[in-house]
Amino acid sequence: MQTPSGHPVAPAPGARLVVLASGGGSNLAALLAAHEDPAYGARVVGVVSDRPGAGALDLAREAGVASVVVAPADFADRDAWNEGVAEAVAVFRPDWVVLAGFMRILAPSFLARFPARVINTHPALLPSFPGAHGVRDALAYGVRQTGCTVHVVDDGVDTGPIVAQTAVPVLDGDDESSLHERIKVAERALLVETVGRVARDGLVVEGRRTRIG
Ligand code: GAR
Repeated sequence: MQTPSGHPVAPAPGARLVVLASGGGSNLAALLAAHEDPAYGARVVGVVSDRPGAGALDLAREAGVASVVVAPADFADRDAWNEGVAEAVAVFRPDWVVLAGFMRILAPSFLARFPARVINTHPALLPSFPGAHGVRDALAYGVRQTGCTVHVVDDGVDTGPIVAQTAVPVLDGDDESSLHERIKVAERALLVETVGRVARDGLVVEGRRTRIG
């Protein structure tokens, strides 16, 4: 790109990430820390939450990143809410949409706006223990290994093609909270690494198989 006087204009570095979060936002915080480094190859350009009180919104503000709340209560029905979320995300012109603790299901119409561009992090080794209580369900089942999964979002609930996983052992005496905290340590590292690699090198999805680069 050039200015009218011929001076090149450096494009802002990195792929554009829009992060959707419902909760405290520790995964968002990890992405915000990573994007400080231009070599990371991606930067968070917007944060969208369904919850006005989400800690993720405070993190965005502190980092100087634009944020917007799209609360279901402000919409007539689910379709309208989905449309509202899609519009809010599209304004930021994302290369990638990252669901980082976003606790609502997005409609196929949302995914169609950002085909194969929506990535989710889930606190279990998918396809085991999908849904809103992945940590609790793994613990109740009695598995000795659980973990976290970064995957491409499809029309199902945590059923999309898997990009990366880390195993985390279940320790004697774990409860949901201690196990989730340990998973989240692994999850933040996995999400930051995976999103960075995907942003820098691209993601190929062939059926259920994925390949970075
Ligand atoms: C993360 O563990 C994420 O995997 C999980 O919520 C947590 C959010 O933590 N998401 C789901 O369970 C989605 N099904 P954070 O707000 O501290 O990033």
